[in-house]
Amino acid sequence: MLILRKYLETCGCEPDLIALIRVIARQMETIRKAFLENQTFEKTQNPSGELQTQMDVWADEHLIKVIGESGLVRELASEEQADIVRFENSRTEYCVVMDPLDGSSLISTNLAVGTIVGIYDSGGVLQPGSKLRAAFYTLFGPLTVLVVSVGKGVQSFAWDQENEHYLLLRTGITVPEGKQYGTGGLRKEWLPEHIKVIDYFDENGFKIRYSGSFVADCHQLLTYGGIYSYPGSKKNPDGKLRLLFEANPLGFIITQAGGRITDGKRNILDIVPEKQHQTTPIYIGSKGIIEKIEEIFSSSSIF
Ligand code: AHG
Ligand code: MN
Ligand code: MN
Repeated sequence: MLILRKYLETCGCEPDLIALIRVIARQMETIRKAFLENQTFEKTQNPSGELQTQMDVWADEHLIKVIGESGLVRELASEEQADIVRFENSRTEYCVVMDPLDGSSLISTNLAVGTIVGIYDSGGVLQPGSKLRAAFYTLFGPLTVLVVSVGKGVQSFAWDQENEHYLLLRTGITVPEGKQYGTGGLRKEWLPEHIKVIDYFDENGFKIRYSGSFVADCHQLLTYGGIYSYPGSKKNPDGKLRLLFEANPLGFIITQAGGRITDGKRNILDIVPEKQHQTTPIYIGSKGIIEKIEEIFSSSSIF
């Protein structure tokens, strides 16, 4: 059966990129084991002002240590770090953006959470998502799944604990035109455009699926299609989710699977980031539905 390393080799990835993806991917078993002892919240906040869980801190520290020691990364930006981390000893120019643990408020409920990673060839972490060299995420569900794109479609793998390999699960994954949606935010804070989008879903027989874990909710898109959204609101017009660590890597993967990502007006992958913890409204999923959402946004702004 095809394993992750072989797949990356057949894609023509350079050995250092393969080594980098593998060294991070191989930490997932260690992270999974750490859940047992790290079930609650810390008293500290992350740079976005959110209460950190023990696992946010644990996974962040662990991954930064391993990535630093690998000598394969020049620059790293993490959702849990106020500043960009530079590794002077690196022998490559790869730059990594990561959400060490996404959906972490769900850890104590044992719902699915995961790790999100984006890799740029060089040039720092403040680059548009369209320039990503590779992106992948892992999902801790019944299986530890890894979904990766190196710009040649999207493949998923599952961790085989016995043989210590990621085995190919699905190849050439595409996002179908599904009829389900999830939305974050408070209804009373929604902006008129988002209300119209939700009305469209309700009037057209869409069903609701929203867990509170972006990575898990996006993973569903690869099977059922539909939309995940976290809109801009009256209080936070730029939404909640982070451009670098969440929107771009997932947007890259979903786009590679034939889906799309938008903030309502533009392809999020085209946004040039101004700062590390910048947020953006997000609509991600089936291509046809994203087109409809952009149509709703453009017709709303005329009136
Ligand atoms: P994180 O756990 O990395 O802070 O991300 C949480 C994000 C995302 O995973 C999820 O979809 C969303 O925040 C949930 O927010 P609400 O609790 O406001 O719905
Ligand atoms: Mn997150
Ligand atoms: Mn996180």
